[in-house]
Amino acid sequence: MSIKRLSSRLDGFARLSLLDGPTPLQHLPRLSDRLGRAVYVKRDDVTPLAMGGNKLRKLEYLAADALREKADVLVTAGAIQSNHVRQTAALAAQLGLGCVALLENPIGTSRDDYLRSGNRLLLDLFAAQVMNVGSLEDADRQLDDVAQQLREQGRRPYVIPVGGSNALGALGYVRAGMEIAQQARANDLAFSAVVLPSGSAGTHAGLALALAHALPATSIIGVTVSRSADAQRANVQRLVEATSALLGIEVPADLRIELWDEYFAPRYGEANAAGTNAIRLLAQTEGLLLDPVYTGKAMAGLLDGIQRDRIDGEGPVLFLHTGGAPALFAYQDACRTQ
Ligand SMILES: Cc1ncc(COP(=O)(O)O)c(C=O)c1O
Repeated sequence: MSIKRLSSRLDGFARLSLLDGPTPLQHLPRLSDRLGRAVYVKRDDVTPLAMGGNKLRKLEYLAADALREKADVLVTAGAIQSNHVRQTAALAAQLGLGCVALLENPIGTSRDDYLRSGNRLLLDLFAAQVMNVGSLEDADRQLDDVAQQLREQGRRPYVIPVGGSNALGALGYVRAGMEIAQQARANDLAFSAVVLPSGSAGTHAGLALALAHALPATSIIGVTVSRSADAQRANVQRLVEATSALLGIEVPADLRIELWDEYFAPRYGEANAAGTNAIRLLAQTEGLLLDPVYTGKAMAGLLDGIQRDRIDGEGPVLFLHTGGAPALFAYQDACRTQ
């Protein structure tokens, strides 16, 4: 399928225009010098709502659907320090909707910074109604149960899955993929690879789908933040299929799902040394802020991948910065440890 046709399929879906234009694509000259390889960053951390992040692109489609259904409350779920929940709560406030958030504590911590600061502080500012749950093992059912309770109270809930990762949400990253391809062409950049954090998988699935069409020579490397490559591959594949079906297109025959799972240990939501070293390196070489849960670990993967020659080709490497820096304030000890 041509890029034009993919774009026109995408244009068939209702979307709130929340981004006002492409996010910047920037060269990282000091990091590139240090690594001996050109590295660029796509700044989805500066999307224009409530400290930015990748979720606004998914919410452009999801919130349009919520408004079409005349919802009066967005219901979603995530970790206490979820960036997705923060952006959803902010958008609900902007649209004059309520927000109910189911939150779990995935690392079982009682640290005050984790429980009260960072993204969690912002949820209170947006007046989200928080429901703490023991775990989100069966998040879709838990969300449906809450939605049912809200309906019984006369509300009109719209459920957004964890991470905004369903086919409709993933359209946001199909669109982002087209945007990256356009910027790459305009700047004469032939990226060998795009490296990104891969969590609830909507970002990865949407991007992989778009770039299989628009930049077929570029590898898309997802650095997992919560599970093994095999478990994550099934999630990305499922979402690629669902998103293709929604768009009415075939799954590209040559689509490869590349995952690196060596960088998230000990588990989702717990900082590690390679990730915090990457946070410090980017802060000190480029003044760029990453986060301990997603982008620090993904950048640790990029740095190691370049050092160990794991990235095919000689071209520049693009890092998709998906946001998350508000969580730095919730991981103060990890950020300070040398
Ligand atoms: C900062 C940040 N980066 C990456 C991701 C992962 O994106 P996805 O859940 O679409 O895989 C998230 C998800 O919450 C996030 O908050």
